[in-house]
Amino acid sequence: MRKQRMSEVTSALSGQIAFGGDYNPEQWPEHVWLEDVRLMQEAGVNLVTVGVFSWALLEPEEGHYDFGWLDRVLNLLHAGGISVDLANATATPPPWFSRAYPQSLPVDERGVVRSYGARQAFCPSSPDYRSATARLTTAIVERYAAHPAVVMWHVHNEYGCHNQPCYCEVSGAAFQRWLERKYDDIDALNEAWGTAFWSQHYYRFDEITPPRQSGTFVNPTQVLDFARFSSDELLDCYRAEADILRAHSPLPVTTNFMGFSMGLDKPIDYWAWADHMDLVSNDHYLVAEDPRNFQELAMGADFVRGLASGGPWVLMEHSTSAVNWQPRNIAKRPGELRRNSLQHIARGADAALFFQWRAAKAGSEKFHSALLPHAGTDSRVWREVVELGADLVAIAEIVGSRVCGAAVAIIHDTDARWASELDSHPTIDASLLNETRLWHDALYRLGVTTDFRRSTDDLSSYGLVVVPMQYLMTDAGADSLKSFAGNGGTVVITYQSGIVDEDDHIRLGGYPGAFLSLTGTRIEEFYPLHEGEEVELTRYGSGRVFSELGRPLTSEVLAEFAGGPTAGSPAITRNRVGTGTVYYVGTSLTPAGARELVTEILTASSIPVPQKSGDDLEITRRSDGTRTWLFAINHGSADAVVTVDGVDLLTGAATEGTLTVASGGVAVVRETVA
Ligand code: GAL
Repeated sequence: MRKQRMSEVTSALSGQIAFGGDYNPEQWPEHVWLEDVRLMQEAGVNLVTVGVFSWALLEPEEGHYDFGWLDRVLNLLHAGGISVDLANATATPPPWFSRAYPQSLPVDERGVVRSYGARQAFCPSSPDYRSATARLTTAIVERYAAHPAVVMWHVHNEYGCHNQPCYCEVSGAAFQRWLERKYDDIDALNEAWGTAFWSQHYYRFDEITPPRQSGTFVNPTQVLDFARFSSDELLDCYRAEADILRAHSPLPVTTNFMGFSMGLDKPIDYWAWADHMDLVSNDHYLVAEDPRNFQELAMGADFVRGLASGGPWVLMEHSTSAVNWQPRNIAKRPGELRRNSLQHIARGADAALFFQWRAAKAGSEKFHSALLPHAGTDSRVWREVVELGADLVAIAEIVGSRVCGAAVAIIHDTDARWASELDSHPTIDASLLNETRLWHDALYRLGVTTDFRRSTDDLSSYGLVVVPMQYLMTDAGADSLKSFAGNGGTVVITYQSGIVDEDDHIRLGGYPGAFLSLTGTRIEEFYPLHEGEEVELTRYGSGRVFSELGRPLTSEVLAEFAGGPTAGSPAITRNRVGTGTVYYVGTSLTPAGARELVTEILTASSIPVPQKSGDDLEITRRSDGTRTWLFAINHGSADAVVTVDGVDLLTGAATEGTLTVASGGVAVVRETVA
């Protein structure tokens, strides 16, 4: 992991939390820029991201640059005391580039060329794209490395968002080279891919194609390797550009991640990518119609904090209100913007940045909210933005502190996610993300902070580790969890975990293969449930999605399936491993059932639970080693209470013993040292 350098950015911002967002001045006449800077000052904006989609204007023709307008923008911002996260503008090649190099356009799995006219229309393996981005990056960093407004570099934008894997011939050849490096000899590939099946045996690497659409299911290991390759290929693009920036400038370099939203169709292995970030940054957008979207936000933020090794990270984008790309773009309710921003900060962000500064009047995103709405400053959103700016100043003393007190980790391996999304599995209803969310939510409701970790990470600081549907498990990951449990840890393993090895081959001899000795429960057959079906359990409510036929070997049965196709078979078991305990859950519990089980497990593992009322009062703590701050964010419709002594930085009020957080309210309490 590279050293995380968020503190250099916050130092450049005089110790303040970064506040601002994407600024696209090229969409507006210059006289508007003056008003922009004035209003940024009024709101307390201190950092804007400039140039993300500016390639077409910065390089009007190949090798000829027009930096005049960008010079003027950066000078204006600097004069106004606003710092800049400067993009290298490589996210979207201009139309002239795509016309000159049509072979650089991406090709989908059906062989259809994706046109320019939207964004990110390039093939990551294209040598033309790579050399053009290297030239542009060099030109930008040479010109602006010494500009006093610039405090960090922003490479590209949301890798993998729209440039999903490319299946063209150039990508195919790059895939062959990647496979040759990985397997060295073709027989090793044949073994890993199980090509004895369906007459798929390869004699030479150059026979292999990307997993293009075929008559039916394409070889799953080929698809998995292609996801790994596609992530590496985009990472090579990032690294090449980041290296150029670093060669010319000492400032930290980042690119904005998209949290949990990366699946097999848009493969990015963020754990691998995080190693190449000087600071981890993330974009998060609520799913407006999800009634517990605030919990999904919390989970995403916890994941990003894991990528940043627990240190402060950058919230590069979120929205002040509605977005434009969901089926129904529901606007945020009063106070929701504040809660969302402070949630990210409560979970480790030292920045609250948005897409975007000024709402666009043209283009696909003209209905996307912004800090400055179409209606201008006489608007609810603007007033909330200004209030948020003041709140961030009021809590600035938390800058540089880290989220503390996480006694629970949830395992999330990228390969497990990708492999779980391959074709032809027992049921389309089994979702690693849903299962992860179920367990995170159960802990969230109790106010228990969770970290995200890989199975192979050092888990020794945790009391409880949850393994939700980690379908693919390496030997190293299984060994790590075995030693964690053996040394006294508590582990919860759910159905569809440890089923295959890293080549997506079934681990034979009974499920859950990799974890059989840990669970002490042997499953012999899966019985997925019908859509919407629930089967009763003898305890902890009912199960959904999945049931299983099995028996305890060394485990103790806590609940059986009371009905359904496997009535009498164990649904939840507990096994002693060394000095630790392993729970196995063979179905998807209801939220109430998960909460009941989690509560018992936390008690049995002596993991403290905050004293608070209400499931929707979100509690986290940050610490700088000397002081601690408790963040209490009430998403519920009733006032809620938490036990805490200290001073609420947002109001200046002292709290003694208990603090009441009004429905929709937030408190950030510097705690009294006992
Ligand atoms: C992000 C993207 C931004 C903007 C935003 C809209 O994915 O980075 O450029 O499009 O979504 O929500």
